[in-house]
Amino acid sequence: MTSPRGTVFRTNPNKDFLRRGYDTGHLERLFRSLGRPLKYLGLPAWEMLDILEWDEYLSRFTTIEREENQQHLMFLRANVKDIEHRLYSLYGEFDEILLTGRDQYGKMPEWPYDVVNLDYFGGLLYSDFSRPQAIRKLIRNQATYKSSFLLLVTQHIRDCDTSGEKKSFLDDLRRSLKNSSIDAQMHGAIDRIIDWYAEPGTPDAARQALYLNMLLRDVGEAEYFDVTSRPAILYAGTGGAVMIHFVTDFTFRPGISHKVGSSQPIADVLTFSVREAHDGASIRDRHFPPNI
Ligand SMILES: C[S@@+](CC[C@H](N)C(=O)[O-])C[C@H]1O[C@@H](n2cnc3c(N)ncnc32)[C@H](O)[C@@H]1O
Repeated sequence: MTSPRGTVFRTNPNKDFLRRGYDTGHLERLFRSLGRPLKYLGLPAWEMLDILEWDEYLSRFTTIEREENQQHLMFLRANVKDIEHRLYSLYGEFDEILLTGRDQYGKMPEWPYDVVNLDYFGGLLYSDFSRPQAIRKLIRNQATYKSSFLLLVTQHIRDCDTSGEKKSFLDDLRRSLKNSSIDAQMHGAIDRIIDWYAEPGTPDAARQALYLNMLLRDVGEAEYFDVTSRPAILYAGTGGAVMIHFVTDFTFRPGISHKVGSSQPIADVLTFSVREAHDGASIRDRHFPPNI
């Protein structure tokens, strides 16, 4: 297990604002481009506030929950809201379900999905790297079905990076950016930005944002997706914990067997600000990397 159990999710104005005022626009865009309702996989908690908010854009939904009482309340809520017939529920830790392909009762997700909302408790990095691996597995599963999708990820800022994974990620990123830049004059700019991310004084939110956005881009491109990332957004979650929220498009490129080069320039991802939801009503920039 990789995060404390028993915490009960409570929404708040910034979370409500992100769900309604930010995420909904992305679901609506995908719904219009596909021209049909979207199949959802996610962690909605018993109230299913995300599913109910996005109901007009959704067809079926697969829910993941690890707390038995929350799962039970979810069934009751689905019954009251008359959406029971569209609900398929999985029970257990989401990373184990994604990694093993089955929940604690042996039930399997109904691949593929159009929208995946990994809105969970806990950080990204633990000693066994189960979360990055689970996200990789999810992307691979979607690729097996050649299925484009929208991925929302929400996690705690604090993680257990005891092995120095983020530092070694930055060393590797510096090397690969230099190796792939034909113009050696770019090396100074690459050092400036990577030095900024590596500095102890730089907020960990910025490192985590770059780490996850690059993980999604790298794995997505290797699995034939054109990946569009967005600046991460911070907000205070249950119990005041700082949460970080990501929305990413994975567009499948059929008929190729080489790694995709995403349409979005890598320089955009490197220079994203980190944003924050503010007063339950707006999103503003909070941290800026140096310009390159
Ligand atoms: C943050 S809430 C979901 C909120 C919802 N998406 C919304 O927009 O209101 C997360 C839910 O997933 C459950 N959960 C948290 N971490 C989990 C994990 N690692 N595996 C399975 N369920 C988890 C929690 O018990 C909680 O009910």
